[in-house]
Amino acid sequence: MSHHDRVNFASKLGAVLAVAGSAVGLGNIWRFPYEAGNHGGAAFILVYLGCVFIFGLPIMMAEFTIGRRSKASTGEAFHVLAPHTPWRWVGYLGVLTSFLILGYYSVVSGWTLEYIVQAMTGGFSNKTSADFVNMFTDFSQNPFRPLCYLFVFILLTHLVVVKGVEKGIERFAKLLMPLLFILVVLLAVCSVLLPGAERGIEFLLKPDFSKVTPDVFLSAMGQAFFSLSLGMGCLSTYASYFGKDTRLGRTAMSVGIIDTCVAVLSGLIIFPAAFSVGIQPDAGPSLIFITLPNVFQQAFSGIPFLSFVCSTLFYVLLALAALTSTISLHEVSTVFLHEKFHFTRKKAAYIVSCGSLLIGIVSSLALGIWSSYTIAGMNIFDALDYLTAKIMLPVGGMLTAIFVGWVLKKQILRDEITNYGSLKVSFYPVFVFILKFIAPIGIALIFINELGLLK
Ligand code: PHE
Repeated sequence: MSHHDRVNFASKLGAVLAVAGSAVGLGNIWRFPYEAGNHGGAAFILVYLGCVFIFGLPIMMAEFTIGRRSKASTGEAFHVLAPHTPWRWVGYLGVLTSFLILGYYSVVSGWTLEYIVQAMTGGFSNKTSADFVNMFTDFSQNPFRPLCYLFVFILLTHLVVVKGVEKGIERFAKLLMPLLFILVVLLAVCSVLLPGAERGIEFLLKPDFSKVTPDVFLSAMGQAFFSLSLGMGCLSTYASYFGKDTRLGRTAMSVGIIDTCVAVLSGLIIFPAAFSVGIQPDAGPSLIFITLPNVFQQAFSGIPFLSFVCSTLFYVLLALAALTSTISLHEVSTVFLHEKFHFTRKKAAYIVSCGSLLIGIVSSLALGIWSSYTIAGMNIFDALDYLTAKIMLPVGGMLTAIFVGWVLKKQILRDEITNYGSLKVSFYPVFVFILKFIAPIGIALIFINELGLLK
């Protein structure tokens, strides 16, 4: 496909919402609140904001630059901008990363559908805490049910992606993102109004600077990366559909703000409700699939209708957030196959859906009947998560910063950031300095820390 007949997002708002849809996902709703609560509350949030602004947004703008300038899929973008150099492997790495993440992320996304069904059919009522643990383990280790939901979730993603950029991705983002925002605000208000909610608000928001160790700083940076969908070409793929007048800096800023607001509001849904019923919030998937159903049931025990409405809405919210993220992951590989190998978009999407279904099946079974197969002591699901989130994303992000900071022609970068000189961008020198020095060094540190090499 030549660069000229490539589709674009129809509006700037559509572009912002599509990118925000990629960014807002499971990472905001379960991972952020837990990290914040345990790492010093508002102190963590401040450090996190620092990471978003100092590292996250500049790298996001770097990815935008790569995408919009090359007008190509991530897999091809580096090749277009630096032909016949090994930099094209960074593009391929992004495609591979997004494809692998899509596989296991869809498994957890599928679980949200089971929990919508449970919430709607009264599956949470009259259960004890132990029952919720059993319910989740029985379900996630079942060899069949999670696979059905995985299939449904990938199918939903597929159907949106096949419809294309404007009629599929942009339209869905415009519909789902406002809905998602309304749901988060509504649920946060419900939670904050519960008796005894203050202690949860305090847990999340009271700054405790004594907990901010270098380690916390690094986990905030890792969280910012995952949450902003950086380091694997999702954003550069979306940016290849940006129009000429889209402002890269402003778009990055809007997405950063939306993503952070949803993360903090999710904390305001989870902690006040959990503290109100006296349940200690837990980490990871068990927080949303074990603790929260229990919380919903107890918090509104006198009013079963409210318990039904809030829990159903919560899982719908989670499913929508996950869907807009899986769409972006799927698009990276689909458009790569479409443009590189000239498959029709439909065929490319089929290949990606079938491939990610396979990876999803393996990851899902790895939590149950295949849990005895391990790689480096981890089951296949955890190994995939570790490999992608802890190794491939930081490496991708670091190489992106180095590429745009050092390799890409200065004039190209300036043209893209200032829309060919029509915008005054006062932070430009700082931005370039960050890309050249601060981001690569900072990411190298997260990376070394995640691998445990600092200890
Ligand atoms: N940002 C998404 C989240 O917070 C996850 C994601 C990562 C989506 C990378 C796309 C690409 O859950």
